[in-house]
Amino acid sequence: MTALAWTEDLRLNQPQMDRTHEEFVDLLAQARASIEAGDPLRALADFERLLDHTVEHFAQEDRWMLATGFAPENCHTRQHATVLTAMREGVRLAREEARWEPLGVLVNELALWFPQHAQMMDAGLAQHMAAVGFEPATGAVTGVLPAQAITRCGSAGCS
Ligand SMILES: [Fe+2]
Ligand SMILES: [Fe+2]
Repeated sequence: MTALAWTEDLRLNQPQMDRTHEEFVDLLAQARASIEAGDPLRALADFERLLDHTVEHFAQEDRWMLATGFAPENCHTRQHATVLTAMREGVRLAREEARWEPLGVLVNELALWFPQHAQMMDAGLAQHMAAVGFEPATGAVTGVLPAQAITRCGSAGCS
């Protein structure tokens, strides 16, 4: 299986985002360890904890986007929704149909997906938050918000 470990390459210098991302990497590693140990019920419990954490992780970033001039429909928020749909389907298949294999596939896919997402979309958001002077703890904006709502993800590679 694909292992994902926290490295400094994943740090985006937005402390709250970095803390959440380290927790994501930890929870994903726990789910992977349970799958590799051949313990499907523990794997399902670990995966559900990862899902709960990811719901709030993505909601937090979606709130920050809305507060800093992104349109409600933007490609970063859409990607979050797509990932949550896949994770929820994996839980449903395990719970309702006792199909465990999709959890392993998802844990692998998430380990491949996360570094790209963090280094492009989340990095773009962190840079944007710094550029407009957004303070997540208070919601205050000390800089200038974009005149037009942003619909792209804000990363350098997204036009
Ligand atoms: Fe993130
Ligand atoms: Fe994100």
